[in-house]
Amino acid sequence: IPVASFDCVVFGATGDLTTRKLLPALFYRFQDGQIPGTSRIIGASRSELTVEAFRERARDALKRFVPAQDMKPGVLDAFLEHLDYVAVDGSGEEGWTDLVAKLAERPDQVRPFYLATSPDLYGAICRNLAAHGLIGERSRVVLEKPIGKDLKSARAINDAVGEVFPEEQIFRIDHYLGKETVQNLLALRFANTIFDRLWTADVIDHVQITVAETVGVEARAGYYDTSGALRDMLQNHILQLLCLTAMESPLNLDANSVRDEKLKVLRALKPITAQDVQQVTVRGQYAAGAVDGQPVGGYLAELGHESRTETFVACKVEVQSWRWAGVPFYLRTGKRMPNKLSEIVVQFRAAPFSIFPSDAFGREPNRLVIRLQPQEGMKLEVMTKDPGPGGMRLRPTNLDISFEETFKQRYPDAYERLLMDVVRGNATLFMRRDEVEVAWAWADSLLKAWGDRPEAPRPYPSGSWGPTSAIALIERDGRTWHEEI
Ligand code: BG6
Repeated sequence: IPVASFDCVVFGATGDLTTRKLLPALFYRFQDGQIPGTSRIIGASRSELTVEAFRERARDALKRFVPAQDMKPGVLDAFLEHLDYVAVDGSGEEGWTDLVAKLAERPDQVRPFYLATSPDLYGAICRNLAAHGLIGERSRVVLEKPIGKDLKSARAINDAVGEVFPEEQIFRIDHYLGKETVQNLLALRFANTIFDRLWTADVIDHVQITVAETVGVEARAGYYDTSGALRDMLQNHILQLLCLTAMESPLNLDANSVRDEKLKVLRALKPITAQDVQQVTVRGQYAAGAVDGQPVGGYLAELGHESRTETFVACKVEVQSWRWAGVPFYLRTGKRMPNKLSEIVVQFRAAPFSIFPSDAFGREPNRLVIRLQPQEGMKLEVMTKDPGPGGMRLRPTNLDISFEETFKQRYPDAYERLLMDVVRGNATLFMRRDEVEVAWAWADSLLKAWGDRPEAPRPYPSGSWGPTSAIALIERDGRTWHEEI
C-alpha cells in the first residue's frame, strides 16, 4: 500500500548509516511501489556536492549494499531521479535558505527530518528547523540512537528536541523493533492462546537474550570507545527485546498502549547496585583470536591505546512484578563472538514428576527459541518417544518454523518498515521519551556500580563466547547458556 507523498530530508547524508541502511531501505520500498513518484529524498550535509555527485555516491552505495539479483532493470535510475541534495550546516548557519527554498516548492508534503548525525547535533538542528519555519503539522523528526550517553545527556537531548517538536512528531529509532521476528514476538504472545497461558513464573524457569556479533568495532572505534556494549546494545536493543518478552498485553497496537506496557517493564527492572554487581554482571573485552577461521587482532591493538571499554557484557536481571517474580533474565551481547546470533530463549520448568523409566534419555524441559538472526524463526523443543521397539526412550525434538522457508519471500530490513511507519505517522515501533529515560536510569545504576568497582573488563579471545566468568554467571544458578546453532 503506497504511503503519502513525502519530502524526506536526511541530515548526515554522506555518512555510514545513510549509505548502508537508509538509501537501500528507501530503494527497496520504491522498487515495491510503496513510495509515490512525487516524493523526494533530500540529502543534507556540510559537504559541497552537486545533486549529480550525490546521486553518483548513492548509485555506488546501492550497488554495494543491494544485491544485484534484487534490482529490477531500470529501477535504480528511476530511484536516483528522486534524490536531491542541499549543502547545509545542520547545527550552524550556512545553507539554510537553500533548504527552505527547496521545501517551499511543495508545502503540503509529509516532511520527515531524519537526523543521521551525532546526537550532539540533534538540539541545534531542531532549533534551526524551527527558526527557519520548517516545522508544521506534517513534519516529523527521526532520531537515531544513541539518545545520549546517560540519563542526564538523554534528558538534555529530549528537552532540546521537545522544545520544537511535540512528542507525537518525534520518532526515536531502535532498529531492533523493525525486525520481523521482533514484531512476530507480539503475534506469538498475543495472537496464540497456547503461549500466553504459559507465560508465567509457575511455568517459566528463566529467559535468556543473546545478541552476538562476529564483527569487531571496525571503523567505529572512536565512537565505540566512548560507549561500550552496555550503552551501544544493552540499554536499547536488548532492553527492548526484554520489554516485548515480559510486557503484559497492551490494550491494542496503538503507539501509546504498547509503549505504556513496555514502560512498566522498564520501571520494574531491579537496579544493579555496587553490592551485587560482581555477582550478576560480567564485562569483557576482546583480545586477539580467530573468527570464521581468520586470525584477528584484539580491541586494544585496533584502538592503539589503553581502554577499559567493554565489548561484551552479560548480566542477570530481575523484573520485579507478580508475573516474573523469581524468573531471572540472563542477557548478553558482545562483539567478535563465534557466530552472528540473536535469540530469545524461554526455558520452561522441568516436568514435576516422571512416569518414565529412569534409563529413558532424560527429561529435558521444554524450550522456546525465538531466533532473530540468522534464519529468522521459532523453535519449540518438545520431548518425544524415540521411534522403534527399543522401549520407552525419550528424546527432544524440534517443532521448527523458519519464516523465510515458510513464507518464501525476502525478509525486509528493519529500516524499510520503520521509515514507512515514520511517513505514516505510526509510532508503535519507536521509543517514547519516558522509555528512553527509564532505560537510561537503569543503565546508569549499572554504570555507577561498575564505576564504584573499577576493575578492567576481562579479556576473551576473539571467536569465543566471552570471558569464562560469563559462563560461571549462569552456571552458578545451575543453568547454561543456549549455544547451539
Ligand atoms: C547498532 C550498534 O545499533 O546495532 C552496532 O551500534 C551493532 O554496534 C548493530 O553492530 C547491530 O545491528 P544488527 O541489526 O546487525 O544486529
